[in-house]
Amino acid sequence: MNKERKLIIAGNWKMNKTVAEATDLVEALDRDLGTQTDVDVVVCPPFTALDTVSAKLKNSLIKVGAQNMSENDYGAFTGEINAGMLRDLRVHYVILGHSERREYQKESDALINAKTKAALTAGLKPIVCVGETLAQREANETESVVGQQIAGSLAGLDAEQLKDTVIAYEPVWAIGTGKTASSEQAQEVHAFIRSEINKSHGEEVAKAVRIQYGGSVKPANAEELLGQPDVDGALVGGASLEARSFSDIINNTRN
Ligand code: 13P
Repeated sequence: MNKERKLIIAGNWKMNKTVAEATDLVEALDRDLGTQTDVDVVVCPPFTALDTVSAKLKNSLIKVGAQNMSENDYGAFTGEINAGMLRDLRVHYVILGHSERREYQKESDALINAKTKAALTAGLKPIVCVGETLAQREANETESVVGQQIAGSLAGLDAEQLKDTVIAYEPVWAIGTGKTASSEQAQEVHAFIRSEINKSHGEEVAKAVRIQYGGSVKPANAEELLGQPDVDGALVGGASLEARSFSDIINNTRN
């Protein structure tokens, strides 16, 4: 696939996989994908499996991401994990502001912005998630909702920081539902996001920043979705839990 930006495909395992299960999965993925250089591949296990997965992927081109982190530094924040702790486990990426956290943990754009800045300061690459609900899409609010999320979550980042940031467009109605956005719907919102970045940070940054699509990505639809000009990768949930389907998604984009 001939793309303007290098594809980045990440697996968000969510709250799945024991350490033993995670080990089996990354061993298989490393065999299938550990030496390919066409696509940046990232796996995001739960915190409990990060250390083991990082160790298994030490000599692999597959990178490791976390699914969340605290906006704070060290201190009295019971139950929290900071960016430095993730770096210590050789983690390179961190998913921030996933819609499940926006919904269940009531994460706001301001909080996601603080986390994004803390991640970048520590040398982690944030994957910042945005996306509208079905009700918002049906009310024609997709652009205003996504525009606000982009402006709020990425406020105050300079050009270099934004280039190190990955944006994931995940329409909430397409997550775990088997209902994928059509490639036209995805392209339309991705182009809108890129135009917003162009307005705020200029053309060079807008051309460089990678925007993933997420929501029921499967081997059967990956090629079509990722073939869109402004779709630079995927954030994969369910289909990243098995080595075969995750590798197939990546391999289907490599021809
Ligand atoms: P599914 O691929 O299971 O729809 O999940 C998408 C997602 O939320 C990835 O972050």
